Amino acid sequence: MTQAAIQPVPDQPAPVSAIDLRKEFEAVDIASVLAQLDRELIGLVPVKTRIREIASLLLVERIRQKMALATTFPTLHMSFTGNPGTGKTTVAMRMAGILHRLGFVRRGHVISVTRDDLVGQYIGHTAPKTKEILKKAMGGVLFIDEAYYLYRPENERDYGQEAIEILLQVMESQREDLVVILAGYGDRMEKFFQSNPGFRSRIAHHIDFPDYAESELMAIAELMLTEQNYRFSAEAREAFIRYIAVRKTQPLFSNARSIRNALDRIRLRQANRIVAKLDRTLTCDDVMSIEAGDVLASRVFAEGAAKGA
Ligand SMILES: Nc1ncnc2c1ncn2[C@@H]1O[C@H](COP(=O)(O)OP(=O)(O)OP(=O)(O)O)[C@@H](O)[C@H]1O
Ligand SMILES: [Mg+2]
Repeated sequence: MTQAAIQPVPDQPAPVSAIDLRKEFEAVDIASVLAQLDRELIGLVPVKTRIREIASLLLVERIRQKMALATTFPTLHMSFTGNPGTGKTTVAMRMAGILHRLGFVRRGHVISVTRDDLVGQYIGHTAPKTKEILKKAMGGVLFIDEAYYLYRPENERDYGQEAIEILLQVMESQREDLVVILAGYGDRMEKFFQSNPGFRSRIAHHIDFPDYAESELMAIAELMLTEQNYRFSAEAREAFIRYIAVRKTQPLFSNARSIRNALDRIRLRQANRIVAKLDRTLTCDDVMSIEAGDVLASRVFAEGAAKGA
């Protein structure tokens, strides 16, 4: 059973003076969650390092609680900053699981919202909206994507301000039962924190998500294909390496998300190619294999060539 780690429970055993660390570590099975994170997410080394640190801190906090040494509940609110498609939403979902395993949130669910879920259109609508979301998120993680949209200084009486005030208050008063993760693009988040220092001071962990290197994008592509029971032929692999190099220089490039979208279109072209020749026997290999032509037909190459890339 998991319960909020810090609150003393009436029938809790008397404080211990020594603890078997390995047993404690294995009891929460955090190693498997971290290993899964390593396996399923390519790169993100600084992010994974921070998550390990937070997990260690929380494990020690649990132990300190058993020793009756914990005095304050750790602040767990976080901010995730980084360019589009760098894995912020994905990691937020994992984070909820980690916090749950370690007993720092009761339920371990994530409520993912943006400004429109919190802020109303008319006077009097915002407070009930925000409170309703907070109620749903209690015992878990409230993920606020593109948090800076909450703050619109150009609008003198913007209802966003009302949502901000309620959030700030709950982040302080209910921090034992709710973890808020704010996410967004780096520069805008920085401006948002400058204008709303209350948020900055309530956030314990600022985690920055770097852009992926081309080799990491390639590894992400292969991981995604493997998960879907596809694979590149040797030539297709070469073609996709070139695809990444060209796509990266084009507008609206969004890291791993662009890779996912590219693979969706490649699968479409592969299917089209397969179905174009009906009179034959198909093997597993045929339907799993992505060929160079499936990649090279992308208009990314045409646009790249047009620009002289
Ligand atoms: N390191 C990674 N390894 C494997 N897949 C990844 C990785 N990072 C992101 N992805 C995949 O890329 C897609 C986009 O990731 P995600 O939605 O988490 O990015 P984001 O930072 O939240 O983007 P946005 O800022 O646009 O909301 C998802 O399908 C996710 O599974
Ligand atoms: Mg996202």
